[in-house]
Amino acid sequence: MRYLTFLQALHESLAPSTYLEIGIRNGDSLALARCRSVGIDPAYHLTAEVDCDLALFRTVSDEYFSRPEPLAPFGGKHVDLAFIDGLHLFEFALRDFIYVERHCAPTGVIVFDDVFPRTVDEAARDRHTRAWTGDVFKVLQVLQRFRPDLLCLRVGTQPTGLLLVTGLDPGSTVLTERYDEIVAEYVRADPQDVPDDILTRVAAQPPARVLDSPVWSALRAARDAGRSGEGFRREVAEIVRTSLGVTTGAAAASSAG
Ligand SMILES: C[S@@+](CC[C@H](N)C(=O)[O-])C[C@H]1O[C@@H](n2cnc3c(N)ncnc32)[C@H](O)[C@@H]1O
Repeated sequence: MRYLTFLQALHESLAPSTYLEIGIRNGDSLALARCRSVGIDPAYHLTAEVDCDLALFRTVSDEYFSRPEPLAPFGGKHVDLAFIDGLHLFEFALRDFIYVERHCAPTGVIVFDDVFPRTVDEAARDRHTRAWTGDVFKVLQVLQRFRPDLLCLRVGTQPTGLLLVTGLDPGSTVLTERYDEIVAEYVRADPQDVPDDILTRVAAQPPARVLDSPVWSALRAARDAGRSGEGFRREVAEIVRTSLGVTTGAAAASSAG
């Protein structure tokens, strides 16, 4: 399944009331949104037909999230669904996650593109291939290690996979506090050491199975009911465990070997 087909179905299942996208380029993924949306990209050139109530920002994500009120275009409402597809370097993708989680509802979902490079060349930090994932794949390793509270779902979409993260904790400061230490450990010169389980996608979920999970309707119902807190988080974790066999980041890491 192509990533855009998957994302379209996810929009339909979740029916977010707010959508934020980092890295919009021609608008192909932004065009899937039907709710109030924010798009951030220093060099976008929209060619897709966009059919939503949209605020566009021609800037980089670091600048956008340094503004005093990044949620102002949503009238202060939290982000229900976000797509991180900006600069494909690990530390930028990690910062984008930190920014976005802080502004998400606990029922929110954050999606990363490009977590399954197909070759070591495609994963290089210094781009030299036409299709390029960079070293964004490391975000999964970091979330599993430093944020085992999150639910991370690896999805085997074409061409280069998606990572869905839910069970969000907008109040968490772990990644911010340990950011420098994490970057010092994980940013490495090319060639990148891409684990076999990433290159072979062994731990990726089939896209249709992920879409069939009742977790999306549960998140939507919890959002509409204004639920959050531990009881709700446990419930979502249990649905993900029974429908997809995924427990927490820590468990996913150990099952991936
Ligand atoms: C792969 S494209 C996005 C494709 C789009 N999401 C889609 O699926 O149709 C990546 C985009 O990220 C933008 N970008 C690069 N650095 C960025 C940054 N620091 N903040 C936000 N966007 C950035 C680029 O200008 C480019 O248009």
